[in-house]
Amino acid sequence: MHTDPARNTWRFALTARLLHWIVAVLIVCQLGLGWTMMTMEDDPGAGALFDLHKSVGLMVFVLVAVRLGWRLAHPPAPLPASVAPWERTLANLVEWTLYACLVAMPLTGYLGASHQKHPPAFFGLPLPAWAAPDHDLAERFFGIHAVIAWLFAALIVAHVAGALKHALIDRDGVFRRMSLGRKARGEPGRQ
Ligand code: HEM
Repeated sequence: MHTDPARNTWRFALTARLLHWIVAVLIVCQLGLGWTMMTMEDDPGAGALFDLHKSVGLMVFVLVAVRLGWRLAHPPAPLPASVAPWERTLANLVEWTLYACLVAMPLTGYLGASHQKHPPAFFGLPLPAWAAPDHDLAERFFGIHAVIAWLFAALIVAHVAGALKHALIDRDGVFRRMSLGRKARGEPGRQ
């Protein structure tokens, strides 16, 4: 592992950084799409949005599984000593609750959709129907799905605020650990 505590510029591997940003963009789209489609539930064409939401959600599920596997196999370098203990604890709490939401959102969406009359498809490819249609159970899963969406959005705001604090106020290189920008001159290689 290449680290440089003096410069605090060690980074996540490119795989981890790419997965982070791809999943981040997809999640923001999924939240927007989810809330938008709920406002036009009975409109013609809404079905296509629901199908798109389910397909992208399932794709996120796969990407999150890869991401979690990668993260567990490649623990990141510790944060620089300049990061206060309370900040470290808060960042960890937010990060692991975000991971929990990343798993719980697609899971509850998929479980709800699996109990509807038509099981979900993945970009038109029908998925196995393993559950009998059960309206009440589906609604229960969707209720949890909707509540977690708000927790998720709040955590994303907190996470972005923390990242911006590091980038604009602390300027301690923590943001650059996850950025896709080029390495600064003299910066050590990836961890
Ligand atoms: C990957 C992350 C996901 C995010 C961030 C997300 C987000 C959302 C949001 C914000 C809503 C609106 C909730 C409301 O206000 O009631 C929603 C609804 C919904 N989502 Fe997801 N979703 C995800 C994955 C999935 C997956 C994988 C499926 C199914 C395969 C799915 C199926 C649905 C359905 C069917 C609804 C409408 C629920 C209803 O009719 O009450 N979602 N989603």
